[in-house]
Amino acid sequence: MKNYKKRKEIEDKVLKIYRKVSPSHRNLINDKTKKQFFNQRLNLMNTLGLPVSFFENKKILEIGGGTGEKALFYAFYGANVTIIEPNENSCKIAKGVFAKSNLAKKLRIINKSFYDIDLKIIKKFDMICVEGVLHHTFNPMENLDLILSNMKDNQIILIAIGESHGMLKRELQKEAVTKLAKNEPELISHFVKKLFPEHLKRATRFDLRNVESVIQDNYVNPQDESSDLENICNTFSKNKISYLSSYPKLDFFYITSPWSHEREDYFNYKFYRNYYKFLEKIWMTCGEEKISKMMKTFNIEHIIKEINIDQKKLLKLKQKIKKNIFTEQDLGIIKKGYMGIGLHYFVGVKQNSDKKRFVEKLKKYKKIEN
Ligand SMILES: C[S@@+](CC[C@H](N)C(=O)[O-])C[C@H]1O[C@@H](n2cnc3c(N)ncnc32)[C@H](O)[C@@H]1O
Repeated sequence: MKNYKKRKEIEDKVLKIYRKVSPSHRNLINDKTKKQFFNQRLNLMNTLGLPVSFFENKKILEIGGGTGEKALFYAFYGANVTIIEPNENSCKIAKGVFAKSNLAKKLRIINKSFYDIDLKIIKKFDMICVEGVLHHTFNPMENLDLILSNMKDNQIILIAIGESHGMLKRELQKEAVTKLAKNEPELISHFVKKLFPEHLKRATRFDLRNVESVIQDNYVNPQDESSDLENICNTFSKNKISYLSSYPKLDFFYITSPWSHEREDYFNYKFYRNYYKFLEKIWMTCGEEKISKMMKTFNIEHIIKEINIDQKKLLKLKQKIKKNIFTEQDLGIIKKGYMGIGLHYFVGVKQNSDKKRFVEKLKKYKKIEN
């Protein structure tokens, strides 16, 4: 494998943090938190157009499956899940999570890094999930390519990854506290709590993680490399994976031509470039939308004006943080609201040769008809 040594170096650094606090662990301590976690997964699946009935008897591979709560959701709906996870502490927790739910038979754990297994294993599954993993690895796009290039026809892939526009506000937060703390983990924690309490409150309330876990995973973590939408799309396209759905959506809202017309695949970034440039600006600046208010007035010119103003402000702040000449007052725009998109989700399917097979079958069918 190319750059194996460098990859393992980064992995070790990341695992050093994750061995202290398993980042994926959700405190499903009582019925309220269990229900909240479950509802969030349902919302995600609905958003991505994946009905839970799909998981029945499916074989799912979760790369970087962490502590297994997400795998548990799939298993609950009848899937058999295999987790590849190098952190032995997380593997132990995952085992416990499944045992407590009487679903132990539905889980198989491979306690290894995905760099250290034969990736041909991917072909044995119906669906591959890689949630929140790739941006914590060395060269995320190379790793996405490694996974996608091992897929076979009709397999589905779900990835959640940091996209650089949707992540900009969080990255600015991270860079600001790292500079103030001179990269000292204790001090990073202090500055996050001091400067971004609203974000911490949201992250712990909605994401069901504790403060320490959020700080370690999002601010102290030495490897957090988002990728541009363009590179993500190109990596899917190159591997002949077609777009099924995503959050946020890539689908062009304006399309009214009949569904039967051929459409360019949404992973063709080059084709949709100008539209995507507009989407990227929205993802970069979003954070305080009030849907009900927007729907009442729906003034697209006003929305675009606001987006352009915020983009300018953010890019100015980016420069100030880069040069380390920012004040606390400058950080106002990355203090309030929900800090952009966070993780982007993409669902794709490996393009298949079924069309050819269908035509072959049809030939025989015609013979019978005549
Ligand atoms: C932020 S956590 C996400 C966990 C889980 N997928 C989730 O969404 O809750 C990232 C996970 O990726 C795992 N990871 C990091 N490098 C990896 C590698 N080379 N192979 C497999 N997993 C890896 C980490 O140990 C960690 O469990």
